[in-house]
This record gives sequence, structure tokens and C-alpha cells, in this order.
Amino acid sequence: MTITETAPNRHGYRTFSIGEFTFQRDEYFVTIEWPTGTHQMAIDVFLRALQRDVAWGFFYGIVNFDSVFGTMNHYGTVDMFAGRFNDAYRRAEVDHNETFSHDDLMECFVAMLKDWTNDGYDPFAAPQETGQPFGPASGDNDAAVTRRRVVATRMVSVPDDEPIRTDESGFPINRHFLDVPQDEPDIHAEPGYESEVCAYNLYAYISRSDVTWNPSVVSACKESLYCPTSEEFILPVIHGNDRVEWFVQLSDEIQWDIEDRDSGSKRARVICKAGDVAAMPADIRHQGYSPKRSMLLVWENASNRIPEMIAAGQASVRAVDF
Ligand SMILES: [Fe+2]
Repeated sequence: MTITETAPNRHGYRTFSIGEFTFQRDEYFVTIEWPTGTHQMAIDVFLRALQRDVAWGFFYGIVNFDSVFGTMNHYGTVDMFAGRFNDAYRRAEVDHNETFSHDDLMECFVAMLKDWTNDGYDPFAAPQETGQPFGPASGDNDAAVTRRRVVATRMVSVPDDEPIRTDESGFPINRHFLDVPQDEPDIHAEPGYESEVCAYNLYAYISRSDVTWNPSVVSACKESLYCPTSEEFILPVIHGNDRVEWFVQLSDEIQWDIEDRDSGSKRARVICKAGDVAAMPADIRHQGYSPKRSMLLVWENASNRIPEMIAAGQASVRAVDF
């Protein structure tokens, strides 16, 4: 697969092509071209979505950047599409889909994210906590766009696994979570079990997250992953599920728009307040709005067999049938 990068355009940004898709940016927008159409997105919206798609390795199921453009993960290969999950584009037959190897598409996305992110702009940060992405090319922010994602093997705080967050390790308490207690649990392990009996303060851990809408894997029990995240402003992607996904609202409030995964027609609006639990079905897509920074626990089953099991009728698209 050939990935083409041009010399910088008059705004200082390279143009990237992979397959039959071409991406170019100017001071305010990205323009995406494919053989049967073109599409524009505001560059801040595009970079925030691109950052998540890169950091999450294309995530579970579908990452819609908006109602037209996105990627669908097949865990080894990835579809990149325009208009595929949009009824109007499909009826007009201007939709387009191409399949790439995971590594080729990732290489293209990483290069684009690096070239198009300017000094002082962090696509992972809440809008009030970072600079502007607009204007001509100006420096870079590689430290932000190559940030390492937290993926615990067993659990945060376990010896040789992900450490807890502290002021000293560069994770101060976020401005919206200054009231969150920071005490850590007392652990009294029998001698020899110090690496087996572990505990930490999850609320304190999330209160020190420096990013938004970025689930961290903080514990793993076989395929069961706890992925808490701090949320503020808008989920930068419209996530199309390929499995049931549990949301436990740990603090504050998130408003969710739920649509049919394939057509985009509206299905529900869900207001999750602290303590609420929702099981998002496997046939929807969703976007969340968090008016102030909030804490969300996303609980995922990571088994790559689930999409096949749903397709074969061996697993339901719902967590519970009443
Ligand atoms: Fe989701």
C-alpha cells in the first residue's frame, strides 16, 4: 500500500493520500476526497477524532469522525469509509469504502496527526485546557500526540504494572476535581502476598487524568476490562458499537445521543447522572456531552469473537432481554 505525502502546501501542511482517499488541511478545515465525493470537517473536530483513532488502535467497531467519515475495525484490517453509514450518501451512491491493513492505515494517520498538530494544541485536552488548532503550520506537539495509553496487565498499583498518578509523576488534580479525596487505602498483606493483595483510590486516579474521552485500561480479568475515563465537552467520535458496552457514571453527568448504528436515525437520548448504569447495545452508535468534567467507567469485554458471535446469532446485541 502506497502512502503519499506531498511537500507542504501554502499553509505549511502536507497532503496525505492512501488508497483512493486524499486528505488536505488548510487553516480551518480538512478536506477529504474520494472518487465519488468530497467532505469537509472543522480541523479541531477532525484532529480530536484522529487522535482517539490513533491512540486506541481503531478501537472496537466503528469510529465515526462525524456522520460521513470514519473507520471500522476488523482487528487486523481496517475499513476506511465515506458515507457508508449514512442513508442519504448510500441512496445517492456516492459512498465509498476501502480496506487497509491495520499497520498501513495507522502509519498514514500517525503521520497526518503529527504534521497537522501545531505547537500548543493538544487534541486530547478539554477545549478550555489547550490552545487553538487553527491557522498556518506552526511547530508541533509530538509529546501530546504520542502520549502513551494506560493499559494495565493486571491492575493499576500492582508491582511492575501501571503506577498510580501523583503530583510528582506529573499528574496534578484537575481543576474540576479539587474536592475529590486523595487518601489511598491501607493494605495489610500477609508476607509473600504483597504483589497479590493490592488496592488504590480509583476516584483519585481519575481526578488526575490530563486527558478527556480516553479510556484507560486500569484492570484486566481475562477479557473483562475496566476502562475509566474523565470526560469534558463532547466525545470527539460517534462510536459505533460491535458489542455491548457498559457505562457506569461515577460522578457528575453525561448526556448521550443514541442513533441506529447503520442508518444514523435517532434512537434515544440518555441522561446519565452519578450512580447511573447503562448497557449500550451492540447495534447503536453514541456520542456523549459532558457539561463539566465527569468520571465515567467504561466496562468492555475485549474478546474479538463477539462480533462473529453476534453475526451468527450466538450472542445478543443487548445485555438483558426483559
Ligand atoms: Fe461505544
